[in-house]
Amino acid sequence: MDPKPGAVVAGKYRIGDLLGSGAMGNVYAGVHVDIGRRVAIKLMNHAFADAPDVRARFRREARAASAVESDYIVQIFDAGHDDTYGSYLVSELLVGEDLAARIARTGPLDVSTAVTIGYQIARGLAKAHAAGVIHRDLKPSNLFLTVRDDGALLAKILDFGVAKLLSDPSDPPSASSASQSPGLTVTGSVVGTPQYMSPEQVDGMVLDGRTDLWSLAAVVYEALSGKPAFPSRPSFVEVLASILREPIAALDFVAPQVPHQVALVVHAGLERDRSRRIPDATAFAERLAQACPEVIFPRTGPLHAFCDHDEDIPVSIVEVPFWGHASTAPSSDHAATEEHAPVRGPESRSFR
Ligand SMILES: Nc1ncnc2c1ncn2[C@@H]1O[C@H](COP(=O)(O)OP(=O)(O)O)[C@@H](O)[C@H]1O
Ligand SMILES: [Mg+2]
Repeated sequence: MDPKPGAVVAGKYRIGDLLGSGAMGNVYAGVHVDIGRRVAIKLMNHAFADAPDVRARFRREARAASAVESDYIVQIFDAGHDDTYGSYLVSELLVGEDLAARIARTGPLDVSTAVTIGYQIARGLAKAHAAGVIHRDLKPSNLFLTVRDDGALLAKILDFGVAKLLSDPSDPPSASSASQSPGLTVTGSVVGTPQYMSPEQVDGMVLDGRTDLWSLAAVVYEALSGKPAFPSRPSFVEVLASILREPIAALDFVAPQVPHQVALVVHAGLERDRSRRIPDATAFAERLAQACPEVIFPRTGPLHAFCDHDEDIPVSIVEVPFWGHASTAPSSDHAATEEHAPVRGPESRSFR
């Protein structure tokens, strides 16, 4: 049952306001009744209360997030089961809003903010991957924007509900559909958006950290442009098909304020062939920093220094260009090079 404000969960946590709802749970502000610490408490939706592996899912989420210590990953304090309210997960209380809410409220983020978010989340992912944790469900609603004590932006990864803990023997590779397919419940019905799934996730391949890089690149694309790299479609299957095949509109055409060098990095994260994608989260962070050094390593000003774009978009272009390759054979070097530059004109191109 849903707790009323003031209800106490597990004899320890007094429930306050509803902060947010995701595919699986409702998150409430709360306070530890003994020590007064303010927390966030996630309780599973009724719809899933009877699902057989609900407890296992919360346990996995707690273990996966706890396996990594990073400023850029939400801290989990506790997990357990309450006879009245079911499984619960307790984390640090974050003040701010998730990225989905932010984009809905303001539209595209300014370049420096979006690049900062991409950089910080990539840093968090690098730590997660080094600890053997793959998130597998990165999307705007699973990234939270808060503010440090010094006033600077701080982005944090939430919701390790479908994360894969590579060292966890209770979570074998094919333990459930959810272990391979974020966005699917244990019963196989769609509960989330598949728009940020990587092509290899769609294909049901064994995943590694590069799947998170794809999803992060798709999130940064949307943060910069206000438009998803793969727009929603009438059906789940059509979204999946578009992830596998549809050309991706060139970011710096869709959002002309985006510097070309930044667009190059984002599209290099959206390489369908993961052997050609930016190889890991550290490299993605470094490439973003190189593309926009004034943002990540401010030399003269605050963190959110202005990031200029390198060239103007010709006004004569009327067709939306797509990301793709010139019809010449692609380079074997998978790092994004000028050959992988977004197509700026309506010339004929071959797409993969
Ligand atoms: N620690 C937190 N502090 C503040 N808000 C949070 C916190 N965790 C989650 N939220 C809010 O609740 C929403 C759902 O949380 P999430 O963990 O993603 O649940 P679900 O597994 O149901 O998707 C998030 O999108 C965010 O807006
Ligand atoms: Mg979520």
